[in-house]
Amino acid sequence: MKAIDIRNKYLNFFKQHGHTVIPSAPLIPENDPSVLFTTAGMQPLVPYLLGETHPAGTRLTNYQKCVRTVDIDEVGDNRHLTYFEMLGNWSLGDYFKQESIQMSYEFLTKELQIPTEKIYVTCFKGDADCPKDELSAECWKKAGIPESHIYFYGKDDNWWIAGDEGPCGPDTEMFYDTGKPACSSDCQPSCDCGKYVEIWNNVFMEYYKNAEGKYTKLSKQNVDTGLGLERMAMLLQGKETPYDTEIFAPIMKKLEELQKIDDIQSRRIIAEHLRSSMMIISDGGRPSNIDRGYILRRLIRRMIRHMNKLQINLDEIKTLIEINTNNLKEMYPDLEKNQETIEQVILEEKNKFIKTLSHGEKEFAKEIEKAKQQGKNKIDGTIVFHLYDTYGFPPEVTKELAEENQMEVDMQGFEKLFKEHQEKSRQGSEQKFKGGLADQNENTIAYHTATHLLHQALKIVLGDHVKQSGSNITTERLRFDFTHPQKMTKEEIEKVENLVNEQIQKDLQVKCEEMSYEDAKKSGAIGLFTDKYGDKVKVYTIGDFSKEICGGPHVTHTGDMGKFKIKKEESSSSGIRRIKAVLIKE
Ligand code: ALA
Repeated sequence: MKAIDIRNKYLNFFKQHGHTVIPSAPLIPENDPSVLFTTAGMQPLVPYLLGETHPAGTRLTNYQKCVRTVDIDEVGDNRHLTYFEMLGNWSLGDYFKQESIQMSYEFLTKELQIPTEKIYVTCFKGDADCPKDELSAECWKKAGIPESHIYFYGKDDNWWIAGDEGPCGPDTEMFYDTGKPACSSDCQPSCDCGKYVEIWNNVFMEYYKNAEGKYTKLSKQNVDTGLGLERMAMLLQGKETPYDTEIFAPIMKKLEELQKIDDIQSRRIIAEHLRSSMMIISDGGRPSNIDRGYILRRLIRRMIRHMNKLQINLDEIKTLIEINTNNLKEMYPDLEKNQETIEQVILEEKNKFIKTLSHGEKEFAKEIEKAKQQGKNKIDGTIVFHLYDTYGFPPEVTKELAEENQMEVDMQGFEKLFKEHQEKSRQGSEQKFKGGLADQNENTIAYHTATHLLHQALKIVLGDHVKQSGSNITTERLRFDFTHPQKMTKEEIEKVENLVNEQIQKDLQVKCEEMSYEDAKKSGAIGLFTDKYGDKVKVYTIGDFSKEICGGPHVTHTGDMGKFKIKKEESSSSGIRRIKAVLIKE
């Protein structure tokens, strides 16, 4: 079964079971400063898992575009991907364990026709925070899973939370027995020898973990599930890796034709990183030296390095993008719409990287000279790492060039530094998730409302051409990007501040209404009119000052928000201005 057919079957199945199909959120989260990319279907739904009402109801399903970069250096093996698609279904205080498990079982065995004997499941074994999940095991037995296929594990395996803080709970995971021989007499679903492959995760989100690590019960019992599409396609097609499925097959074939040196890992890295880069660029990402821009830069550069390694002419990038667009446009129509931009961004980055590489070569020549003068016959690991880290100069190239100069390289020293660096960036990306949308407190909620006031005030003072192009909120400030061709004058800044503060002083009521997307547009509500909204949307009005499509949450009255002050107005990129502002509590 092709991936797109699995996706359609999934959405239809849950639709038949009363779920509303909601669109995939963009890969680049909005209003969320602490996350690099959308990493799970639940992430854009955090406010609703915490109790906000969702306009589309209490049963939702979608396919979600996801990027996870923690394992970026593992890509090239037979399973790790940076971009993947997650199929999910949610109950927001609607059904719980019994119905969720029943539906999963039915979908796997009836819709996908996976034989029951190939399915293994795991449940939470219980600890001081939460009791053993006997109910899930009972539900699995009732559905038809034999007891011998049910395992219990602790928090490491059967508990799910995005990051360190937020909604969470015990989960029950489904595994597919590939039929490979057991690696030992103790081989079981938790073993990663490859016999059992995890296919679906149902999280029973009824707890909230706070920053101190304390668990409390949420107001509702929610279900959050995630099924990895590429992996499921691979298993159903009896393939060994996702690269052997129709998602990657055309690009893998082309790479084989183009390569002058044969290396399957490099081909996989090129194919994987190209697809991820295209998806990120299509959703608005651009290469840069920080945060998500840096991840995109790394993906593109790593792809190019491996093209160099296989001695594939870099001019072929265009062909590769074309192949991917044609192959994936049915799943992601945006790729075709944005093909030109995608090509432009990748080619520009390629040109920058070529320059970097030549700088690296010069730097390398200097280092070799120095080492020779010092009578050394070995290049230090720190130098190899410096060339890698600063110039993106691949260690294997350093090694090759060194050998041509009759020098050895301290690869062990390099590896050590590289591991340290990897650990730091891993902690960094985990840190990024900490907080996230889950971090909703009085301050961030007030900043959210202030963003709406600011948006409207800018439209009044500067003109209707002002459109939000980004927003970022922390507990300490808001940041707001908008379209405007020139620097704001001092007077304009003051006018905007005054206008916002007047609305705060009036203690305006903030009201939320649900309506169809079309009605919202007709009513004059502002908002990002993209297809990220479902059929029904929430519209927040602040007195009669502002009306905006938004998921919330917001303050109920503006009175207690504090005094609004613009701290900075600067250029963000061409045609885009950026305001940083604070609310000062008196
Ligand atoms: N949010 C859960 C996961 O990502 C379903 O596995």
